[in-house]
Amino acid sequence: MSLRLGDIAPNFKAKTSIGEIDFHEYLGNSWGILFSHPADFTPVCTTELGKTALLSGEFEKRNVKVLALSVDSVESHSKWIGDINETQHTTVNFPIIADESKEVANLYDMIHPNASETFTVRSLFIIGPDKKVKLFITYPASTGRNFNEILRVIDSLQLTANYSVATPANWEDGQDVIVVPAIKTEDAIAKFPKGVTIVKPYLRYTPQPNKD
Ligand code: BEZ
Repeated sequence: MSLRLGDIAPNFKAKTSIGEIDFHEYLGNSWGILFSHPADFTPVCTTELGKTALLSGEFEKRNVKVLALSVDSVESHSKWIGDINETQHTTVNFPIIADESKEVANLYDMIHPNASETFTVRSLFIIGPDKKVKLFITYPASTGRNFNEILRVIDSLQLTANYSVATPANWEDGQDVIVVPAIKTEDAIAKFPKGVTIVKPYLRYTPQPNKD
């Protein structure tokens, strides 16, 4: 059965480009991103891993550890990392799992046989410090993911984990947020001293509470 939001992200041990890792140990108390790509030495994947490496400072700022996966070997990953660094003008500084046995791919349902019998699709999981799955998305091989969107979701997840708010469509860090329906308006006014704008009884905005 495939994973659902709120499930514990299954632990595994795997060979990676930086040696053997235990997934939960690797994550420690950090947030995590586990993402698969179809294959090494393919163009879209090269840009995706390059973009992820270029954003490493942004992931670090948010206390997020990144882990990539394909069903290619460690030797293949090592050679390909050289190409990624060269062509994307970056340094890949996160491990890539060499899932030749497809053990992790099967655990996370990353092989969709009607898309490809052999290759992993572009799945991505965001995992919280409690090791629970907070988000998953799956893209086809032909569409590279937008890693700025992944950062935006992490900002939303980290904010909404700590405050009684939700983030509206197309929200970006720093913009007004929505007071969750469970909070009564009189309580919201006390809870959010920067103010509450009531558009409808169920649609109430407040400035982002963790920004000056
Ligand atoms: C790519 O990463 O470029 C790619 C991989 C598999 C199929 C199509 C594109």
